[in-house]
Parts: sequence; C-alpha cells; structure tokens
Amino acid sequence: MLASSIATAFQRAFSYPPLLVRAPGRVNLIGEHTDYNEGFVLPAAIDKQIYFAVGLNGTDTIRLISYDKDERHEIGVAGIRPGRTLWANYLLGVAAQLQARGMAVPGFDCVFGGDVPMGAGLSSSAAVECGLAFALNHLLGAGLDRLELARVAQAAEQTYAGVQCGIMDQFASLHGRPGQVVRLDCRSLTYDYFPFDTAVCGIVLCNSGVKHSLASSEYNTRRQECGRGVGILQKLFPLVRSLRDATLAQLAECRAEMGETVYRRCRYVVEENRRVEVACEHLLAGDLAAFGQQMYASHAGLRDDYAVSCRELDLLVEAARPLPGVYGARMMGGGFGGCTINLVAHEEIPHFVEQMSAAYERQLGQKLDTYQTTIVGGVETMGGRE
Ligand code: GLA
Repeated sequence: MLASSIATAFQRAFSYPPLLVRAPGRVNLIGEHTDYNEGFVLPAAIDKQIYFAVGLNGTDTIRLISYDKDERHEIGVAGIRPGRTLWANYLLGVAAQLQARGMAVPGFDCVFGGDVPMGAGLSSSAAVECGLAFALNHLLGAGLDRLELARVAQAAEQTYAGVQCGIMDQFASLHGRPGQVVRLDCRSLTYDYFPFDTAVCGIVLCNSGVKHSLASSEYNTRRQECGRGVGILQKLFPLVRSLRDATLAQLAECRAEMGETVYRRCRYVVEENRRVEVACEHLLAGDLAAFGQQMYASHAGLRDDYAVSCRELDLLVEAARPLPGVYGARMMGGGFGGCTINLVAHEEIPHFVEQMSAAYERQLGQKLDTYQTTIVGGVETMGGRE
C-alpha cells in the first residue's frame, strides 16, 4: 500500500515511471557495540521498511521528496554537501560516496517513505542509505555488490550524519534473508545464516519512546574508549589488533593503566563477543531458553560496563523477565533509548503486550508502543520499471 502510494507520488511529481525498491530496518539478537571492534553480530532484516521510487531525470539536479514529511529538497550534482535538511543528508551522503568512488552520479529523482519508526534503534537511517545506494547502483548499472553497497551506506552515515558507526546496520539491511538471522564476522566480513525458529517464538519490540539524543556523541566516545584500550593492550600484547583479539586475562593485566572506565568498556566487548558465539550454539541446538540467558547477560553488560542503557530500557527488560513465555530480552542498537528486543512464545504475545503496556503506564505514566516483527529478505527491487 505504502509502496504504491510512493510510486504514485513520484509519478505525480515527476511524470515518468520510477524504479521501486524496498529497504528493511533491522533487529540485532545479540552482539551489540561489537561491530566496530571487529567482532561478531547477529542481526536480521525486518518487516519495518523504507520504500523508494527513484529515476534518472536527465538533468544535473537531484530532486528529493520525503513522503512522510511532505518536504522537498533540490541540489545540483556538482555541489553535493550536507545541509540543514537532516533527512536529505542520508540520501546526499550516499550520492557523495558514490562520487568519491569515481562514479559520475547524474541527476536523479527520489521519493521515499516508510514505517520504520525514527530514533527507535531499528536503523531507519541505514534503510534509507541502503535503499538509495541499491537503487542508484541498479539504475546506473554500476555493478557494486551488496557488501560494497553496505560500505557506501556506512560511509554515508559516518560522513553526512556524523556517527562513526560500524557496518552491522547497513550489512543487515542488504543481506537479510526471510526467516534467518545472520552472524557476521565484522573483521573478515564473512557471514553465516542461522534459521530462526519462528514457529516457537516471535520477536516483539518495545519502544521506550526515548529518542537517543545522546546517542551519536556517546557512541563516538565509546569508540574512542575502545581504541584507547586497544592502544594500552598493544604495549604488552602486540598481536592484539582490536578488542576482538583480546582475552579477559590480558585485560586484567592492563587494568591499572586503563583505568576503570576504559577497562569496563573493553571487558564488555570481550564478553559480548563470546556471548555471540555461545548464543549461536544454543540457536543451532534449538535451546531458546539458553539463548535468552545470553540476551539478559548482554543487557547487564550494556547497562553496567558499557553504560549505554537508560532507566526506561532497564525497566522494560526487568518487566519482561518474569512474564510467561519470555525467553530473553535486552536493549538493542546504539542505546540511550530506542527499543528492547524480546523473544516471546507465540501464544503468550497478546498477554505480554498487555502486561508490558500496563507496567510502562504504571511505572512511567507513558504509553508503550510495541511491534511484532517478522524477518524478511534484504533490499530489493519491487517490480515497476527495471
Ligand atoms: C548502531 C550502529 C551499529 C552498531 C550498533 C551497536 O546501530 O550503527 O554499527 O555499532 O549501534 O551495536
């Protein structure tokens, strides 16, 4: 429905038929803040998506329309730069990155919109970046593969949105497969798919409603703290290239020099990488209860050592834990707000939603938005003009 409204809006604005593309947001089952430490993540693309109508217009002008905001932005291809229209920056960042790779980006038109809630930790920005990168690659016949497109989109986020993000979100949006989660090794960028048994439980997201305004500055600070930790580790252990290589014993030896803050940031990352490995073994064995325990441990580490949670997220995890049918819960994404991810037995989901909403209302006086999501395939064209 939304996709066809966006196609219609394009046709009305520009009077020619567009290419249609959908780009999903993502969840991450476990492996948080590990991607930029060359570790492991376990994301999946979800049915909260951004839809694009895109066409080459034969001019030197880029014309962008945000369907959701009902706003328009125009800029010449020769003068692409980030500006005050924040939503446009994600798109312009992609065009700039393609240019930086030596591609001649001609004038194009783009109408986009979707149902990925903004600031909810579901990577709406990655979906926006990946969708346009995919569409332009397709229209221009540029031949970039999905991994290269993920790198283009990640670099767009870093340069035009100012977040020194890792590659997880963009990778997940482009590499999703229906019904499967993907374990990505963020060093080698090799990956494996694991079936996620949706017959047993569903993925329910609880949106704290807290917009992560601290997220980008604190995110960049965490990256720096990890980098400082690696610098100190390398003096004693020259083979440590990133926290991916470090052990808890090595960290303990460097604790005094690191100081408590850097030490705890590093300890969290080392432990979280291990948790992803253990969690994948549980997933393969079909042991969702054990998998869920790793999720709770992940949340505790994010809250206590990495310090990226907040009161509302902690409250949501604690409210979920005792409810029947809940296998695991934790905060998800960069932190400081956004959603918790909950694995809940299907038959208990209505009761779960009711109880969580009541608890949020009672303890914070706020209405809780929840989303039951399914795992879908990565970015793709949707028919229309190819
Ligand atoms: C954000 C970033 C990702 C990743 C997560 C934390 O979503 O964009 O690269 O670092 O935070 O795991």
